[in-house]
This record gives sequence, structure tokens and C-alpha cells, in this order.
Amino acid sequence: MSEPFDAVDVIRTKRDGGTLAPAQIDWVIDAYTRGVVAEEQMSALAMAIFLNGMERAEIVRWTRAMIASGERMDFSSLSRPTADKHSTGGVGDKITLPLAPLVAVFDVAVPQLSGRGLGHTGGTLDKLESIPGWRAALSNEEILAQLDRVGAVICAAGSGLAPADKKLYALRDTTATVEAIPLIASSIMSKKIAEGTDSLVLDVKVGSGAFMKDADRAGELARTMVELGTDAGVRTVALLTDMSTPLGLTVGNALEVRESVEVLAGGGPADVVELTVALAREMLDAAGRPDADPEAALEDGRAMDVWRRMVAAQDGDPDAVLPTARHTENVLAESDGVLTTLDAYDVGVASWRLGAGRARKEDPVQAVAGIEIHAKPGERVRKGQPILTLHTDTPERFERALEALDGGIVIDPAGAEVPGRPATVLDRVAG
Ligand code: URA
Repeated sequence: MSEPFDAVDVIRTKRDGGTLAPAQIDWVIDAYTRGVVAEEQMSALAMAIFLNGMERAEIVRWTRAMIASGERMDFSSLSRPTADKHSTGGVGDKITLPLAPLVAVFDVAVPQLSGRGLGHTGGTLDKLESIPGWRAALSNEEILAQLDRVGAVICAAGSGLAPADKKLYALRDTTATVEAIPLIASSIMSKKIAEGTDSLVLDVKVGSGAFMKDADRAGELARTMVELGTDAGVRTVALLTDMSTPLGLTVGNALEVRESVEVLAGGGPADVVELTVALAREMLDAAGRPDADPEAALEDGRAMDVWRRMVAAQDGDPDAVLPTARHTENVLAESDGVLTTLDAYDVGVASWRLGAGRARKEDPVQAVAGIEIHAKPGERVRKGQPILTLHTDTPERFERALEALDGGIVIDPAGAEVPGRPATVLDRVAG
């Protein structure tokens, strides 16, 4: 079959700062998915987009073409509205775990099609797989049945959703083209729109542990995604949230499940509770439940009940004792003073090097590996006090993990303790 365009012309247009025609975009995504546009051609195009950007109409068309590369799910047979949340990825970001069952308490169906971790950010499925027996892979029929019966499902996104994005994301990862706003926005939104949720709340992270290190770029990403969602008929809201330091007091798979269960039991760290409740409120509002009280559902055990049913429905044992590491090592405060920095990126890399994350898609992860945090920025610490506890089954990893933390923990001996807690939710973007 002869092709209507030539990949080299498409690349040249973008390389020279031009605008791609809708038909060129449709073709290049389809031809790449079919293997007609070669990996090296798509990587040149991704770099041209990274350097020269895309106009709004191009991003909309690119997103549509990626959706059209695969199947669309349909939850319209459910008797309740659907709401979903997506985070752009952070360190210690376990929010999906308490959030999905919490929102489901209020008769809203929560289909959380999730991924695995890559690099320094963790993945929701890796966390849940530390629960003995828990199964990530569900068929579309199982997803619908669980949404109907339990109200919430967290599972692997099937290979049928936006296959063009799967290929392109893997390519971007190896060609330094991940951090382009048009490419991130279209990647995330193509999957979420194809998933078929009625409403979507985006948690756009800002800071060292996030893709977007500064608030201006994070705001632009949030606005781009909110516009894409709204245009596609999905009620979409974004919160910009802090990722300069890890969320909560744990990083790593089983450690984060433990902390999530504490939140579901009405406790847990204040920043994790704040963000879970803020995102739940947005999801419930978007789903037509503005009077719901998510804080009460955490305190009185209703969210925990849904969590237990959700885990059990996927063959996990909600009562199982979570695995713990065979080896731990403390990182101590080097002086008296106020902790001014506990850098999210450095802690994420250290946790990854302890075995909690993977360098390549096919690598295994250790359920037990990770980091416990004993002090957060703004708190006064004493020399010799543990700031972190590192966990792993493979103690030869401690050295490289400690190297990653070099410079990531800063104590100001003359610093003043910061009253209260730094804000977790920084801004809100609505359609
Ligand atoms: N997550 C995605 O799914 N895609 C991106 O491009 C970045 C984060």
C-alpha cells in the first residue's frame, strides 16, 4: 500500500518550526503504530516537538490520533457515575491506594487503570503487588463486574488502550524527550479519554521529584491537560501539588501500602491525608456528590471496608502481614538544627537503588525495599537522630543509595523551626 505522506517531510516541517496538518498527524501516529514510520524517524520527530512545541490544535489532533490507535472502554452500563484520578508521578505518592476506595464509598465508580514504576518514581501496581496474592491483570469484563460490585478497581491498563502511546512513551524514555508538555499532555490524556471516565482529577506534581520542576511549566501542563479533557467531554480539574519533598513518611512498595492502610484507618501522615481528601473532594464534586464528607469516611471505617473488598476481589489478602526487609540502615542527622531540605528526587533515586524501582521495564522490584522518613522539612532535629531508615533485602545496595542522598539532606544549624506544615496543594486549574 502506498503511504499518503513521507515521514521525512513530517519531521522536516516540525524541525523548521512549522505546524503539522491534521492529516499528517493522523498518518504519522497510525503509521508509527503499524511500524511503517521507523523508531529513528519517530525519535527525530519527538525531538523536534520537544524543541519547537506544538500548537493547541496540533496537540488536540495528536491526542485524538493516539486514542484512535486502540480500543475505548465503555462504563455507560454502570448505574453510577465514574471518576478517575491521575498523578504525573512523584516520590512516596501512594494516594491512589486510599483515594479509590474512599471515593467509592459515595456511590461513585473509580476505575484506576494504573502503571508500574520506571526510574525514580514508584508505580501503583508495584505497591499493591506487595500484598500477598493480589492480582493486577484483569479482563475488561472483570473490571466492569468489580466496579459494579465493589465500586473501585485498581488494575493494569490493558494493552489495547492507546497502543501508539505505549510505543512512543518507551521511545521517549530512551531519547530524552519525556519532558515535552505536548507529549506528556497527549500521552496522559489519550489513555484517560480512551478509558472512558466521566470525570478526571489530575494531580500535577511540581518540584525536584516531578517531571516539572517549576510551577510555571507545571501550570502550563495542567492547563493543557484540562483543555484536552474538557474538549473531549470529560469533566477535568487539576491540582498542582508539591513534590519538592516525598509525600508522607514512606517511599517503597510494601512501606507505602502500610502507610495507606494507616490513612484508611483514620490516621497516617497529615500531608497524605490532606491530599487524599482534597483529591476526593474534587472527584466527588465532579461526579455530582458535592455534599459528601470524605474525612468522615476515613474516620469511621467506611473507606477501609471498601479497601478490604477491593483487595479481596483481586485475590489479595487484606489481613496478610506485609513483607519486611531483612536489612536496614539509618541515616543520621549530622548536626543540630532545622531540616531545610529532604530532596524528593534524591530520596526517590535512593529508594530505587535499594531495589524498590526498576531501570528497565522487565526488571523485578523488591516489595520490601524503600525508605522510612523520620523528619520532614521545617522540623528541628538533633545531631545523631535518625532522619531516614533505608530498607532492602540486598545490603550491597546501601552504598549507592547513600551516594544518591549526598546533598539531598540539608540541616541549617541556625535555622528557625517553621511553624505548621508547608502546603501540599499549591494551585487549582479548572476547565
Ligand atoms: N505519564 C505518562 O503516561 N506519559 C507521560 O508522558 C508522562 C507521564
